[in-house]
Amino acid sequence: MAPGSLPLFIALWPLLGWVCHGNRVPSLQCQASSAWAAPQAPGRGGWPCWGTELSVCPSHKLLPLTSLDTNPIRGTSCIQLSVVACGPRLQETLVMLKSSVLTMRSCVHAHIFAEDELHGAFQEELSAWPAAYKKRFAFTMYAISFPQSHTANWKQLFKPCASQRLFLPLILQSLDAVLYVDTDILFLSPVEDLWSYFYRFNSSQLAGMAPEHEATQIGWYNRFARHPYFGKTGINSGVMLFNLTRVRQTFFKNDLSPSPLTWDDLLLPLYHKYRLNLTWGDQDLINIIFHHNSEKLYVLPCQWNFRPDHCMYGLNCATALPLGVHVLHGNRGVYHNDKQPAFSAVYEAIRHFPFGGDMERHLLAPLRAALQVTEHTYCGRMPAVFTASLQRITDDFLVFD
Ligand SMILES: *[C@@H]1O[C@H](CO)[C@@H](O)[C@H](O)[C@H]1NC(C)=O
Ligand SMILES: *[C@@H]1O[C@H](CO)[C@@H](O)[C@H](O)[C@H]1NC(C)=O
Ligand SMILES: *[C@@H]1O[C@H](CO)[C@@H](O)[C@H](O)[C@H]1NC(C)=O
Repeated sequence: MAPGSLPLFIALWPLLGWVCHGNRVPSLQCQASSAWAAPQAPGRGGWPCWGTELSVCPSHKLLPLTSLDTNPIRGTSCIQLSVVACGPRLQETLVMLKSSVLTMRSCVHAHIFAEDELHGAFQEELSAWPAAYKKRFAFTMYAISFPQSHTANWKQLFKPCASQRLFLPLILQSLDAVLYVDTDILFLSPVEDLWSYFYRFNSSQLAGMAPEHEATQIGWYNRFARHPYFGKTGINSGVMLFNLTRVRQTFFKNDLSPSPLTWDDLLLPLYHKYRLNLTWGDQDLINIIFHHNSEKLYVLPCQWNFRPDHCMYGLNCATALPLGVHVLHGNRGVYHNDKQPAFSAVYEAIRHFPFGGDMERHLLAPLRAALQVTEHTYCGRMPAVFTASLQRITDDFLVFD
């Protein structure tokens, strides 16, 4: 939902409730019960019937998703979220997922790609969430995998985990659209607000991403890249709205062949041509693709993918100032070291928040206290940038108490 449309939403509330009851989705892809009882989300004022019963999919059991309507405004289903978690990223991924359910209005279905040895831990941790949250959260575990046609090639090329997201359109065949995020993302605003950018796409646009930099003086691509990139400073692939239907249907202009190619046919030749010049792996490939197809990309404002680059030499994401950061991206490990204490303060606050706790007392208050200690850093100088979105959610939900 766009900022400011809350009043409209409130006006539609009774209607949404009705639509929700009237349009039962038979169940999510797994065979869980789907009673549309009004979820009692602790700490907030009980949104009407947006949730489904918990439907935890058994590992590897992928049933067709065709019955899913991904329109959250109509409230008939969940936001489709995807993440790729490998190596030591388990905890970070869990905190990301926690941030998505703490801030969401409807429900989230997470498509988690992970190395096999992490599957058990995900199942265990997510199943231990309190029922009130599980009602509005479903997840499906996937092995790291490549489309049949590519398996042999890709396994040898990139690190398998790193390139997984490129193949989402081919693997999640029955999903219409997905929000892909890196494991080091934290939602400080409702995920529905980000998803609603899909409805701002014009008929050519099939992906939404934020610029890699706001300021060319410190931009990486414009100073160092040895391959084409999108726009003035490139794009960052840590937060991607992907209309998978369109990606699968589209032919992409390219510098490999005179004729446009499908996503499927494009990836491998592109990799071969540029592999010696790629620094950031698959993000570079995404930049090359949208360099040649710029009309197909919707550029998200920087508050939807806010990284240390946006504040470490002074704030250069102007739109984060009045409304606060909506999605925080602690790249280069900043949640886990002391380089950007403001970023780790947010991570730790969400990690420690007790499920069902009071958002004001148990999340915002400790976060404000932790941010105070970071005011000597550039990023910590304007603590409201990190708290405004959570504050708004906390206040909004009071409306329904
Ligand atoms: C994705 O694109 C298809 C085809 O244009 C469209 O029908 C669908 O509604 C889009 N999905 C979203 C979430 O915007
Ligand atoms: C890779 O970088 C080198 C050095 O900048 C450049 O000469 C070459 O054309 C680049 N390769 C491609 C495929 O662009
Ligand atoms: C969609 O928006 C992009 C970016 O503004 C633009 O280049 C493209 O021409 C637009 N497509 C249509 C069909 O209006």
